[in-house]
Amino acid sequence: MYHWLNALPKAELHIHLEGALEPELLFRLAERNGIALTWANVESLRAAYAFGNLQEFLDLYYQGAGVLRTAQDFYDLTWAYLEKCKEQNVVHTEPFFDPQTHTERGIAFEAVLEGISQALRDGRERLGISSGLILSFLRHLPEEAAFRTLEQALPYRDAFIAVGLDSSEKGFPPRLFERVFAKARSEGLPAVAHAGEEGPPEYVWEALDLLKVRRIDHGVRAAEDPRLIQRLIDEQIPLTVCPLSNVKLCVFRQMSEHNILELLEAGLKVTVNSDDPAYFGGYVTENFAALHEHLGMTEDQARRLAQNSLDARLVH
Ligand code: HPA
Ligand code: ZN
Repeated sequence: MYHWLNALPKAELHIHLEGALEPELLFRLAERNGIALTWANVESLRAAYAFGNLQEFLDLYYQGAGVLRTAQDFYDLTWAYLEKCKEQNVVHTEPFFDPQTHTERGIAFEAVLEGISQALRDGRERLGISSGLILSFLRHLPEEAAFRTLEQALPYRDAFIAVGLDSSEKGFPPRLFERVFAKARSEGLPAVAHAGEEGPPEYVWEALDLLKVRRIDHGVRAAEDPRLIQRLIDEQIPLTVCPLSNVKLCVFRQMSEHNILELLEAGLKVTVNSDDPAYFGGYVTENFAALHEHLGMTEDQARRLAQNSLDARLVH
């Protein structure tokens, strides 16, 4: 299905590794770690994947991540994602991970990082997929917690290409994290941030002006502010858009209402990404396919979107 979309060489710039945890692996890891689950089986877990907004999703996403305990678990998760990349001609990926999701429940930062980093190295050597890991702060926790996370990460500075900001957006504006992002910048770590997914255009301005981000994750609500749109065009700030995610989390009611192609045609540097592929019904190719099916995306538009993703990499 959609061989021509699958065949396009692509980069993925917005994927949460914890969001790549497929129900089958989740059940396997729960068994391996002796963790009791509240769902009877894979089918009943999948049936719970119906969300009214971002928070309803996050509640399940953090619960699911509870089965990840050992470095091997993080390796298996990351490796399964990289095999999908291989299948879909994702030649480069810049995944997020949320250390606080794990350290807050007593998992060592080092175990998380070791498993992910080893899989990314093997992905480079055995699958030919280049990559760079992004350390993402949870914005529903205080800035001091983000500072502690950054301190834990700095001894392994070379394992990261950037810092990011994710989790509950509304009520947690980027300005709350200005100082920790300044510290990361002083350590030579560039920034990206989720903004304008559920939050207003002001959050995108703050991400640009206060956090000095190099890309905006999501950013679809920038469309409500013509001055902001002009800035994003002028500075060619990439937006890492996640179409299936936006429909699953009710940012748009249906795919036919998504604004990604309007943003592309207006001259923004938009890219197509999966966000949390295990929860939202597909990886990058499925996201491209949905745009073709519901928005009439042409082959030329698909090529430009794929090329944008390669151009918008932080590391080459
Ligand atoms: N938005 C915010 N935080 C997240 C997301 C998202 O789409 N996925 C995982 N953490
Ligand atoms: Zn995201």
